[in-house]
Amino acid sequence: MNDQPDFKAATDAQQTMWSKGDFAEVAHLVVPVAETLAAALELIPDERVLDVACGSGNGAIAAARRTWTKATGADFVPALLERGRERAAAERLDVEFVEADAQNLPFDDASFDVTMSIFGVMFAPDHQQGAGELLRVTKPGGRIGVASWCPDGGLQDFFAAIVKHTGGPPPGAVPPVLWGDEAHVRELFGDSVSDLRSERLKSRQAFRSAEHYIDFFRDYFGPIKTAFEAVGPEGEQELTADLERVLDGLSTGGDKALVVEPEYLQVLATRA
Ligand SMILES: C[S@@+](CC[C@H](N)C(=O)[O-])C[C@H]1O[C@@H](n2cnc3c(N)ncnc32)[C@H](O)[C@@H]1O
Repeated sequence: MNDQPDFKAATDAQQTMWSKGDFAEVAHLVVPVAETLAAALELIPDERVLDVACGSGNGAIAAARRTWTKATGADFVPALLERGRERAAAERLDVEFVEADAQNLPFDDASFDVTMSIFGVMFAPDHQQGAGELLRVTKPGGRIGVASWCPDGGLQDFFAAIVKHTGGPPPGAVPPVLWGDEAHVRELFGDSVSDLRSERLKSRQAFRSAEHYIDFFRDYFGPIKTAFEAVGPEGEQELTADLERVLDGLSTGGDKALVVEPEYLQVLATRA
């Protein structure tokens, strides 16, 4: 019996999921994460930067603002790349958006000075292959920066509520949030990086209420939209109640607002 997960089927399922809704709307919430990562990478003019699983381009746009040259974003959802092109055009920034799977990037070895990914490569089902591609396209001495949700960063009960109603990842698949654990990332990069450091940072999402949060994510965020489709009209009340319970438990907003502050791991490494 073959215990290896079917990465191709899992990647196809991910692509279908991320193509639902419109992640470009949700991406506004994580602009500060991209800006923080771009600042930590200490970009300088004329560096070539790649943003892997860029969505509508938060990382690539943050990079283009700092390097005075063309930045590149790669993602496997064409509609998100189109939103990225609109954003870059509006800001008169030079960003090339390329359709690609993070596990099979269409770039030559050592093409980029800096490679970054914000809540992106973590979702590629084959973690080792995703990490391998980041390493391959980064020049020796170049930098890699990755932001990923932590396994215990606050959103775990939210993810668990979704899995409870929809079934989990395919057997043998590794959870995306392992990218939020430094030991796992160290193992993935191995001695292909000469140094690696990480920091747990807080993000922030403020909504009027749990209901507002769920309505928004249900409209725009592929994974939640998929969960509601999976439970159908008969399961929707229970899924909503579970999500509301988790969100209200997490909120630091008191009775004025629903505020969640999930933690993520920001990893910086130098390509050996
Ligand atoms: C949570 S969103 C983050 C998007 C963007 N990095 C940002 O910060 O706004 C996850 C993104 O990863 C992309 N993605 C997931 N798996 C991918 C893969 N295997 N190859 C390319 N893109 C992928 C999705 O299409 C989606 O745009």
